[in-house]
Amino acid sequence: MRKVQIMIAIAIFFPLFRLHSQVTTNFSGRNSFSLNGKWNYIVDPYETGYYDYRYKPYDANPDPEGGFFLDQHQINKSQLLEYDFDKCPALIVPGDWNSQDEKLFYYEGTIWYRRLFSFKKADPGHRVFIHFGAANYETDVYLNGKKLGKHIGGFTPFDYEITLLLKEDSENSLVVKVDNKRKREGIPTLNTDWWNYGGITRDVFIVEVPATFITDYSIQLKKGSKAEIAGYVKLNGVTKYQKVKVDIPELKSTTEVTTDADGIGIIRIPVKKIDLWSPENPKLYNVNFSCETDKVSEKIGFRTIETRGTDILLNGKPVFLRGICIHEENPMRGGRAYSKEDAQMLLNWVKELNCNYVRLAHYPHNENMVRLADEMGIMVWEEIPVYWTILWDNQNTYENAQQQLTELISRDKNRASVIIWSMANETPVSDARTSFLKNLAEHARSLDNTRLISAALEVHASKESPFDKIVEDPFAEYVDIITFNEYVGWYDGLPNKCDKVNWLINYNKPVMISEFGADALQGLHGDTLTRWTEEYQADLYRRTLKMLTKISQFRGVTPWILCDVRSPRRMLPNIQDGWNRKGLIGENGTKKNAFYVLKKFYDEMELKYK
Ligand code: GCU
Repeated sequence: MRKVQIMIAIAIFFPLFRLHSQVTTNFSGRNSFSLNGKWNYIVDPYETGYYDYRYKPYDANPDPEGGFFLDQHQINKSQLLEYDFDKCPALIVPGDWNSQDEKLFYYEGTIWYRRLFSFKKADPGHRVFIHFGAANYETDVYLNGKKLGKHIGGFTPFDYEITLLLKEDSENSLVVKVDNKRKREGIPTLNTDWWNYGGITRDVFIVEVPATFITDYSIQLKKGSKAEIAGYVKLNGVTKYQKVKVDIPELKSTTEVTTDADGIGIIRIPVKKIDLWSPENPKLYNVNFSCETDKVSEKIGFRTIETRGTDILLNGKPVFLRGICIHEENPMRGGRAYSKEDAQMLLNWVKELNCNYVRLAHYPHNENMVRLADEMGIMVWEEIPVYWTILWDNQNTYENAQQQLTELISRDKNRASVIIWSMANETPVSDARTSFLKNLAEHARSLDNTRLISAALEVHASKESPFDKIVEDPFAEYVDIITFNEYVGWYDGLPNKCDKVNWLINYNKPVMISEFGADALQGLHGDTLTRWTEEYQADLYRRTLKMLTKISQFRGVTPWILCDVRSPRRMLPNIQDGWNRKGLIGENGTKKNAFYVLKKFYDEMELKYK
């Protein structure tokens, strides 16, 4: 990766202004002070705490006269104050608000969170940052009455430096405005098939770092090579010129790089013998970065992923992606999944299915998922919520999508498990759409040229016969793998239609089916033609898998979906009741018949690709 490419990558990662926050790599790997727990909150549907009666934002004024972000403990008693966090109920962070309080189950709007904390730096010369794993959707952050920044997007991390605002001898007041209102110009836009959980949905913590610290690094096998590790390291701070040691003890490899005026050091490490990461052998190496002022470590796996004709090659060997789609939800507890335990529960079920791959739909899931996938040997498809009918001509919408993609790649670029970046899901073909997605794909390749690019493309029936299904999407030219969703037998006919369907896919690229499925209420039984029964779903799985194996380029599949998921679009009484029932596992954790149909198919495919 030439210096220029790295400059571009980093310039994109470190925007100068603070509308979008910067993301520091592996803050979660450092000593940190957690702010998880109870946060007082105020529900503010009219955004009274943000706008004055003239609908002017209070925080636009350098000396604001109002606003719920002011530190109420600093306000003298005669000043008019119409809110009091101290007397307000609390929400648990991390966590969505919808599953914590019946009254907030359907709530879409603004909620203000306030957390008081004391923090004393270990070293007066150090700097302090606050890190958010994610908050849905539009977040304004204030410390001691001062604005730190605004973040847009519900599923990616952001952090702010608080060194100059932090009080060390008294309590700090951290106020966060979170607004999960859906917006036409948003990413995602108004219409989705998942619950719009709002709130501070992932970990929040404080990190103390030296004045100059290691803020970013990328380290992977060079594209197409098993003999060279390539990447960069970046310092943030005044002492930009430094020697940075990259140490991989198990490889008996210690490399020293010298950073330049921008604090960037190019990493090149020749490797003779390396234990490559794969589902069968999820080998992770300790990688230690250290310089005069800082040190940070990480567990990283090394593998190559590429395509050759219609094959997907992992470490140079053809592989079949035995997958399943997952939403970031814990069906048993209800609400957004966020913890290691949630990730463990979901990925244990994935392993029980004998999967070697997952599609994390339709937005970046929490970091615990991808780090655990690294450890468990599960390959990962990650995507940003460019879903259905986005406003393709809106420049802000594009920048929003690109920023979410930047933050995702920045966070997970060192995860061996992540093999595919996906740009979109089921987006209607138009020139504006295709150029929007083309620009995103080029952006992703400019940040990371070592992984595959894809998207759930459009499918249509031929005019001649409803049994001829054609995949010819103009965006297919820009992807490495042809993937699409198909619902023959559920939205399109009955399961026996699968027996007659021909797929016309005229691309010399691997084909992966990113969704298929049918709804079944766990425990509802009947004949294979009775919708909503486990028998109908299982029959559809058998016939679909048979249909797909006829596709010559067929190299992977992720049926929709591991568990039933909440959806505001699914309200059929006594069957759906607010749940998309296409899970192979019911909301109570009980497996449906189709779970075993898929597992049997994967056992056979595993043998076939051994
Ligand atoms: C779509 C979509 C999913 C949705 C699923 C369904 O293809 O991508 O988000 O939930 O189909 O209809 O169940």
